Amino acid sequence: MRSPIPDYLTEALLSVEFDHSGQTADYIPELATADPDCLAVAMCTHDGRLYSQGDCDVQFSIQSISKPFVYALALADRGFDEVLDKVSVEPSGDAFNEISFEPGTGRPLNPMINAGAITAHTLTGPRGATPSEQTSRIIDGLSAFAGRRLEIDAAVYQSEITTAYRNRALANMLRANDIIDGEPLEAVVGYTRQCSLLVTVEDLALMAATLANRGVNPVTGAPVVPAPVVRQVLSVMATCGMYDGAGDWMTRVGIPAKSGVAGGLIGALPGQAGIATFSPRLDQHGNSVRGLDLFRRFTSEMGMHLMEVPPAGPSVVRGRRVLGTGEHAVQIVSLQGSIRFASAERVLRDLEDVPLTQKTVAISLVRVISVGDVARRMLLEAIRRLTLDGHDVYLIDPDRVLPDPDPGDGGRVRVVATREDITARLKRSAT
Ligand code: DON
Repeated sequence: MRSPIPDYLTEALLSVEFDHSGQTADYIPELATADPDCLAVAMCTHDGRLYSQGDCDVQFSIQSISKPFVYALALADRGFDEVLDKVSVEPSGDAFNEISFEPGTGRPLNPMINAGAITAHTLTGPRGATPSEQTSRIIDGLSAFAGRRLEIDAAVYQSEITTAYRNRALANMLRANDIIDGEPLEAVVGYTRQCSLLVTVEDLALMAATLANRGVNPVTGAPVVPAPVVRQVLSVMATCGMYDGAGDWMTRVGIPAKSGVAGGLIGALPGQAGIATFSPRLDQHGNSVRGLDLFRRFTSEMGMHLMEVPPAGPSVVRGRRVLGTGEHAVQIVSLQGSIRFASAERVLRDLEDVPLTQKTVAISLVRVISVGDVARRMLLEAIRRLTLDGHDVYLIDPDRVLPDPDPGDGGRVRVVATREDITARLKRSAT
């Protein structure tokens, strides 16, 4: 069978093709020369399958889409405390280049507006890194997200740096507020280089998919940034990624996103996919007009809104039964699905409401797909309490979905692969 997804993406492009509203960015002269009719879309699943349609080979500058990735590198390199000390995480409701700082601290409000992004740029690499080392770190880091070597577009860089009066003003203010060290102009030069990196829509989809895949590039397998960094970055993208259009975006589209003035737009849907569009005409907020339309379409047609969850699946407790009799009797509680807080709570409730009748009990995870960290701790605490209540507890976990099964503090559990292992053990101990 041929997958219908490429056809769907083509159809989506056709539905927006005739919208010629908006303008290409002209405050960077080189961007005004872009072909305004270019149109492309790419989607990369969390496990690395890439679909793309339209002008997918056209390269364009990444611009502000570099911001979440550079913020990720700064968090990974310097840690949360140092970065949060310099850049806050509050939506500004302002345009991307607004001269706005937090009253009192002088910090930029978030790392998605230019002031915060220039600051994040200066926080990459080890403390004491030179501006050129920071630029190299950023090129290497963004290339790792994209899974290929990215290069700077010298013409776009030149065009922007010669007209970057506003960003220079921001950097001077940041220096005056003691938010950045070093020469403000060097920060603007580095930041402008970062914005001039050339990408295709496919690169952007893979970069977004790396965020959707907890920081591991799903094609190369490279761990690019740690999972807690990704959580922080996606949260900031969700609340601040679309600047003064962020609230409208989050309610209507509901995907952590970032736009760039060259016409790129990315969305990263945690655990599912990275999506990117490219169309250079922009609206008054500096976001791609046709990109916005495409994302609205994807959300409503593919159910991608972050706040929309599927209805709860079948109960996590699949059933209970007693196998064998007398001292060989084992009461098996079978669980199923992916267990996070709410399903673990359901297991605890079940064990409390309906007391177990046999001394030997086994919790079967044979049909469990995954156990989240909090669910793991809750299940282990249940096992500990069952032990203290006098039960001999087994865990049937052939695929080791529950890591490090130590209930601690008076609890005891034996991990086996099958229920026959339990019967064999019981028989052995009876002889
Ligand atoms: O700082 C600037 O003006 C550009 N290099 C990037 C701006 C940008 O992409 C805004 N996003 N939509």
